[in-house]
Amino acid sequence: MTTFDISCAQAELQGKNPRIILKAALAAFGNIAISFSGAEDVVLIDMALKIRKDVQVFSLDTGRLHPETYQFIEQVRQHYGIAIDLLSPDRALLDSFVKEKGLFSFYQDGHQQCCGIRKVEPLRRKLASLDAWITGQRKDQSLDTRGGIPEVQLDDVFSDPGRTLVKFNPLLNWNSAQVWDYIEAYQVPYNSLHSHGYISIGCEPCTRPVLPNQHERVGRWWWEDAAKKECGLHVGHANSES
Ligand code: ADX
Ligand code: SF4
Repeated sequence: MTTFDISCAQAELQGKNPRIILKAALAAFGNIAISFSGAEDVVLIDMALKIRKDVQVFSLDTGRLHPETYQFIEQVRQHYGIAIDLLSPDRALLDSFVKEKGLFSFYQDGHQQCCGIRKVEPLRRKLASLDAWITGQRKDQSLDTRGGIPEVQLDDVFSDPGRTLVKFNPLLNWNSAQVWDYIEAYQVPYNSLHSHGYISIGCEPCTRPVLPNQHERVGRWWWEDAAKKECGLHVGHANSES
């Protein structure tokens, strides 16, 4: 898709609700997919299927997700009768990383290398086959790192020379309560971890429940600074070999 005008689309979609952003995304791109984390971003799947039945969905299977998240991904697959493309890390990269550093190096070294191998490299491979992708990022997840992102953007991390990749963030302007109102109103299935104090859900060793009134990102990579709580899916340090 070479004719898509990102700045024009952004001007039209700024501040709009998720359904309008999703509709625009699915109308503009045939070769587009939803990146589903196995958490409350399931609302994207629910909304998108009402617009287009054949929308592609993929998840990054890091090998370290909670059992509940694997069960939930399967539940979503069956509930909606859709295929979910589960992407595994590159075996050679993962084998040598684990051999050298073990299974919990992120508690000492930080999460970037492990996320690079288990999430970013498989994502890069997948995105190389797409013209556009859809994420469940919201501003309220982190004003530090997500406060300034637009509804639609050129993905300058994963675009290749000569190949433009467009990224849509339809949930951007919704807060957590609005997402949960939708889940309740439309009886959307949800990850059972949400009933046990988990708000933001990532990999099992790097996610923990939060206390009442704590911010959701507090439960992610809790041993690191707030400013480092991005894993490379949505920011510029995306080189898995680094
Ligand atoms: S993360 O970068 O901190 O891990 P977060 O959990 O907030 O991301 O999720 C934001 C969006 O990133 C999700 O809605 C989803 O689109 C994408 N994402 C995160 N983790 C995954 C995953 N394991 N598989 C697919 N998409 C994911
Ligand atoms: Fe590895 Fe934790 Fe990143 Fe998952 S979230 S890929 S376990 S560092």
